[in-house]
Amino acid sequence: MRIYDIIERKKNGKNLTKKQIKYFIEGVTNETIPDYQISALLMAISLKGMDDDEVYYLTKYILESGEKIDLFGIDDKIVDKHSTGGIGDKTTIIVGPIVAACGLKFAKLSGRGLGLTGGTIDKLESIKGFRTDLSLDEFIESVKKYGLCISGQTGNIVPADKKLYAIRDVTATVDSIPLIAASIMSKKLALNSDSIFIDVKVGIGAFMKTIDDARKLANTLVKLGERFDREVVCYLTNMDEPLGLAIGNSVEIYEAIDVLKNKGHYSIVEFCIELSAELLLLGEIVNSIEEGRKIVKEKIENGEAYEKFVEMVENQNGSIDDIPRSDFVLELNSEEEGYIYKVNAKTVGEAAMILGSGRENKDDQIDHTVGIILNKKVGSRVKKGEKLAYIHTNSFEKGELAKNILMEAFSISVEHSDIADSIIEKIK
Ligand code: URA
Repeated sequence: MRIYDIIERKKNGKNLTKKQIKYFIEGVTNETIPDYQISALLMAISLKGMDDDEVYYLTKYILESGEKIDLFGIDDKIVDKHSTGGIGDKTTIIVGPIVAACGLKFAKLSGRGLGLTGGTIDKLESIKGFRTDLSLDEFIESVKKYGLCISGQTGNIVPADKKLYAIRDVTATVDSIPLIAASIMSKKLALNSDSIFIDVKVGIGAFMKTIDDARKLANTLVKLGERFDREVVCYLTNMDEPLGLAIGNSVEIYEAIDVLKNKGHYSIVEFCIELSAELLLLGEIVNSIEEGRKIVKEKIENGEAYEKFVEMVENQNGSIDDIPRSDFVLELNSEEEGYIYKVNAKTVGEAAMILGSGRENKDDQIDHTVGIILNKKVGSRVKKGEKLAYIHTNSFEKGELAKNILMEAFSISVEHSDIADSIIEKIK
């Protein structure tokens, strides 16, 4: 078998066989296929697509490229949660403690971010001392004892995905539905959870720009779940504007704490209540979403959700009173009066990136303390001179640059505009 022939076959729009996909993934894992040929095949897949069988085998062989993690000894139902990634997405850090406070075990292996802001692990590492490098035994013990643990990926799971993702990231082949589906599901299947909840982000700040594409991705994920005998539920959620108010790392932890203390902005509070209720339903803790919402609200209002968060932070060696902030805060004031009708998530992310909140290359250092806090969301009324956002920075120069970019993110109109629903659709 020659990789050249496999590339040519896909270039001509033909389906790849199980054996060809296996050969490709083994070659990626053993490093016997050079990066330029991997890139060529990824581009051909991006342009020509894959059918259900091809995506299934791609997922299967990526999954088999590494170890699987058995959450040995945890007998309760385990529900895993994943997001395809968006600006200001700190949902895992909020939803984990909420559902754990409701009695659902939340065992989550998360990643670092490559892109405009950090991933869940980067955000948690902005808490001084917080350990994200737990061994598998420590991870399992924490879940058993506290019902909650969020750690970095342990062991050698899906090495083929790591390699493929790094190449996709620099060859404009990230936003391909079969490649995203195989990448997400191989990671999720490496853990023996019972059900998988996937938040498929759609909009300007997401990989999926249209609802049609997001639906296609969600359907592919659900079908893969069926073939691997796992229940998969997807929500399509809006990523035209950032989620909540904070975009960065430590600023997002502060916002997560606000939500858990029942002081969050209603947009993110409602979003997290819905997601938590769905997870409780999947985990068979409740019998309906309504029942889920009720218990979730109770656990936020009575402080138990926040206590769970503190318990997790302390268990993972973090210091809840030591979450650093930036040296300076600049203000962005509105030059017009009216109603906000757009806060472009991508542009806000780019402004945060200028401040140092994300990384372009995997070895880049991020600045955990910088970021943006929105003071106005879509639908808000704004007067001339009123604050649109706060810029948390450690450098005036970068702060001023970010401010100019951020100004472009806001669109203001004289007429009141409708607020889009944050949850667009459920697919299962
Ligand atoms: N998240 C993943 O894990 N993989 C992708 O390819 C895209 C989003």
